[in-house]
Amino acid sequence: MYNYVDLDKINLEQPAPAQEPERQYYFMAKVRELVKKQADELGRPLKVYNLVVGCQMNAKDSEKLLGILREVGYEETESEDGADLVIYNTCTVRENANQKVYGRLGYLNSLKRTNPHMMIALCGCMMQEANVVETIKKSYRFVDIVFGTHNIFKLAEILYQRMTTKKMVIDIWDGTTAIVEDLPAERKYSFKSGVNIMFGCNNFCSYCIVPHVRGRERSRNPEDIIHEIEGLVADGVVEVMLLGQNVNSYGKTLEHPISFAELLRRVEAIEGLQRIRFMTSHPKDLSDELIEVMKQSKKICRHLHLPLQSGSTRILKEMNRKYTKEQYLELAGKIRKEIPDISITTDIIVGFPGETEEDFLETMDVVEKVRYDSAFTFIYSKRTGTPAASMENQVPANLVKDRFDRLLKQVQRISTEMSSKDTGKVMDALVEGVDEKNKELLTGRLSNNVMVHFPGDPSLIGTIVPVKLEQSKGFYYIGTKVE
Ligand code: 5AD
Ligand code: SF4
Repeated sequence: MYNYVDLDKINLEQPAPAQEPERQYYFMAKVRELVKKQADELGRPLKVYNLVVGCQMNAKDSEKLLGILREVGYEETESEDGADLVIYNTCTVRENANQKVYGRLGYLNSLKRTNPHMMIALCGCMMQEANVVETIKKSYRFVDIVFGTHNIFKLAEILYQRMTTKKMVIDIWDGTTAIVEDLPAERKYSFKSGVNIMFGCNNFCSYCIVPHVRGRERSRNPEDIIHEIEGLVADGVVEVMLLGQNVNSYGKTLEHPISFAELLRRVEAIEGLQRIRFMTSHPKDLSDELIEVMKQSKKICRHLHLPLQSGSTRILKEMNRKYTKEQYLELAGKIRKEIPDISITTDIIVGFPGETEEDFLETMDVVEKVRYDSAFTFIYSKRTGTPAASMENQVPANLVKDRFDRLLKQVQRISTEMSSKDTGKVMDALVEGVDEKNKELLTGRLSNNVMVHFPGDPSLIGTIVPVKLEQSKGFYYIGTKVE
C-alpha cells in the first residue's frame, strides 16, 4: 500500500537482495509464480484460511500476513475445509489457548488426508515457546511451516522455502531489533485500522509470558508512524488504534526520544483523521501530560483501557506491577475528574499465587470505587518460564472459581449501570457495519467504545453520524440517527 513495489518489475534471474523489504518483495514475486502455476493446474485460485486469536497485535499481524498472501495470489476463505493454506496465528497468554490449538491440529490432519497438497502454517506467540516447537516437531509432523512473532514479515521467503524444498520449515527468532517497514497489509475494515507504534514489552509482570514471546520493547520512528497514518487516511481511514503492549512508554528508547503524549499531538495534527484510540496503557507510566493531551484533544476517543490486574498492594508487588492500590485509585480519580465523559475499562486476574480472601476483597473494592465501564476478568493461568509459575502458594481451583464468579457479577452489575448513563443523549457514532442479528439496523461505535444499534442505510458505513441513544440494553444502546 505504501511505497508499493511492482512485482512485475523485479528481476528474478538475479539472486535475492539482502536488504529488507526489497528481499521480501523479491520472494513475493517468486512465490506468485509458484501459486499461479498451482492455480492453473487446479483451474481455480488458491485459497487461504487464517485463524487469529488473542490481542489486537495478533489481529494486526494477521492483516500483514494476508496482505502478503493477497500479493502472491491467494484468496481468503472462511473455512479450513477446502483451503490450500491454513494459517493459525496463535496466542499463549493463557494455557487454554494452547490446548485449543493442539485440538484443532487434529482436525487439520484429517482434512489434510483428503487434500494432501494443503499447507498448514503456525505462527504467533505460542510458537515462540521452545517446548511448543519441540512438541510440533515430534507429534505433529504434518505441519508445514512454523514461524514466530519476530519474523512475520518474512512470510513470502518462508513459503518459498517450503514450496521448493517440500520440507517442514521452522523459522523462529529469539528476538530482534529490526522493524521492517513498507510491506503490504490487508485491512479488515476500510474505515479504521490498527497501527503498531511499538513492539514487545519490558515490564516483566511476574505472571506474563508476553515479554518472553514478543521480546524487548522497540518503538517505531514517529515519522514512519505518521507516514503510515497519512497513507491510511488518504485511503479512507477515519479512525486509528495505536497499538503497543505499553503505549505510555513509547519513544523512550528512540535515538531522538519523544513521549507518547507528543506522538499523540502529532497524530492529532493529521488532516482528515477523525478519531484516535490507543491500547494498552500501563498505570505506572501514565503521565499528566497524556491526561492533558487527551483532555484538549478533539480526536482522541473518550476511552482508556487501564489494566488493574489486582487491587491488593501486596499482590501487585508480587506481580511486579510497580504501583499500589492507592496510586491506582488516585490515577483513576484524576482521569475521571479531568475527563468526566471518559470510559475506563480494565483487565483483572483472579487467583494469582498467594491471593487471599482479603487480597481479593481489595480487588472488589477497587472495582466498586473506580466503577469500570467494562472489565475483562481472567483466571490466573500458570505460564511456564514466568516467575509466578514457580511460586509455591498456588490458589486451589475451587477458591479461584468462587472468587471469579463473585467478581464477574460485580463487574457486570456496575458496567450495566455505567453503560446506561448516557441514555437520552445525542452522541457521535462511527458506523461499522450492519447489525448481524437485525439487518435493518446499523452498528455504530461511540467515542467511549460503547456500541449503538440504529436504523439506517448501509451507505453510512465508515462515516461518523450523530445518534440519539434512546434505550440502554445493558452493554449497548438502541438509538435513532439525528438528521
Ligand atoms: N493468567 C491470566 N491472565 C493473564 N494475563 C496475562 N497473563 C496472564 C496469566 N498468566 C491477562 C492480563 C493482561 C491480559 C492481556 O491478559 O490481565 O492484561
Ligand atoms: Fe504482560 Fe505486563 Fe507487559 Fe502487559 S505490561 S504485556 S501484562 S508483562
